[in-house]
Amino acid sequence: MTVNFNHVNFIYQQGTPYEYQALNNIVTEFQDGKYYAIIGQTGSGKSTLIQHFNGLLKPTSGKMQFNEVTIQRKTKDKHLRTIRKNVGMVFQFPESQLFEDTIEREITFGPKNFGMDVEKVKHKAFQLLLDFGFTREVMSQSPFQMSGGQMRKIALTAILAMDPDIIILDEPTAGLDPQSRKQIMEKIKHLQQQEQKTIILVSHEMNDVARYVEEVKIMRQGHIVHTCTPEELFADKAYVEQLHLAVPDIVQLQRDIEQKHNIHFDKLALTEQSFVKMYKEWQNNER
Ligand SMILES: Nc1ncnc2c1ncn2[C@@H]1O[C@H](COP(=O)(O)OP(=O)(O)O)[C@@H](O)[C@H]1O
Ligand SMILES: [Mg+2]
Repeated sequence: MTVNFNHVNFIYQQGTPYEYQALNNIVTEFQDGKYYAIIGQTGSGKSTLIQHFNGLLKPTSGKMQFNEVTIQRKTKDKHLRTIRKNVGMVFQFPESQLFEDTIEREITFGPKNFGMDVEKVKHKAFQLLLDFGFTREVMSQSPFQMSGGQMRKIALTAILAMDPDIIILDEPTAGLDPQSRKQIMEKIKHLQQQEQKTIILVSHEMNDVARYVEEVKIMRQGHIVHTCTPEELFADKAYVEQLHLAVPDIVQLQRDIEQKHNIHFDKLALTEQSFVKMYKEWQNNER
C-alpha cells in the first residue's frame, strides 16, 4: 500500500486560544515495501504525522491517499476499518498498554475485535515470541511478571501478529537493553526484506537509521524540510549537528581514521562490514 500526503495540514484545538498548527502543507509519499525514518527535534510534528496513518488524526485540510482510499477531514470512521487493519502502530512505551492477565489473551484481543482468524494470529505470535527468545510456555504466562524488554516485545508481537502491511514505530527501543534493541530492530528489518512490509521508524538513534533505513524524512516545525538517503544525510556532518543529532558511530570512526591517516574515502560506510571492506582495500593499495 503506497501512502500519499497531499497538502496535509493539521491544527490541534482549532478555534480555541490554544490552537496549534502541528503539520504544515505536507506533500510526501511512502512507497510500498520501503524502510523510512522520520527524524526531527521534539515538537517538530513526528508523532502527529504518524497518527494520520491509521486515522487516529485526520487532516484539518488536504488529503491522504492509501491506494484508492482517500482520507480527509470529513471521512467517517467506518471507512477507516480496512486501513486500521493494515497499519500496525507501535507507540512509545507500548508495554504501558498491556492489560490482560495472560499473554495469549493479550495477543488475541486485537484480532478478535477485527474479526480475524484468531488461531492464525496466535500461531504467528507464537513464532515471533520464540524468535524473541521466549520459552514455549509463554502464552499462558502473565505479561506483568516480565522484564521491561520482554514486555516491549510482547506489545510489539501483539501488533506484528496481525500481519499489517505498514508497521509504524515511534521510538521502539527507547530505554531498552542493547540485546532487546538489536532483536527488535533485526526482526523489523527481516519483515521488510522477507515480507515486503513498509516500515516507518521515528527515532533519534542514528546508529539504527544508518544500519536499517532506506529513506529519511526530516521534520522541522510541522514541515518535511528534507528527504534523502542515510548516506546523504550523514555525509553532511554540519547539517546533522544543526539537527541536534549525533552522526552514527561507524561514520565517526571513518572520520577519525580519515583524519588520522590524512585520507578521504570516496564512500561513506554505514555498516561495520562495508567499512572493514573499504579499509582493507585501502590498506592493500598502500602496500
Ligand atoms: N493535543 C495537543 N494539543 C495541542 N498541541 C499539541 C497537542 N499534541 C501535540 N501538540 C503540539 O504539536 C507539536 C508537534 O507535536 P508532536 O507531533 O508530538 O511532535 P514530535 O513527535 O516531533 O515531538 C508540538 O509543538 C506539540 O506541543
Ligand atoms: Mg513524538
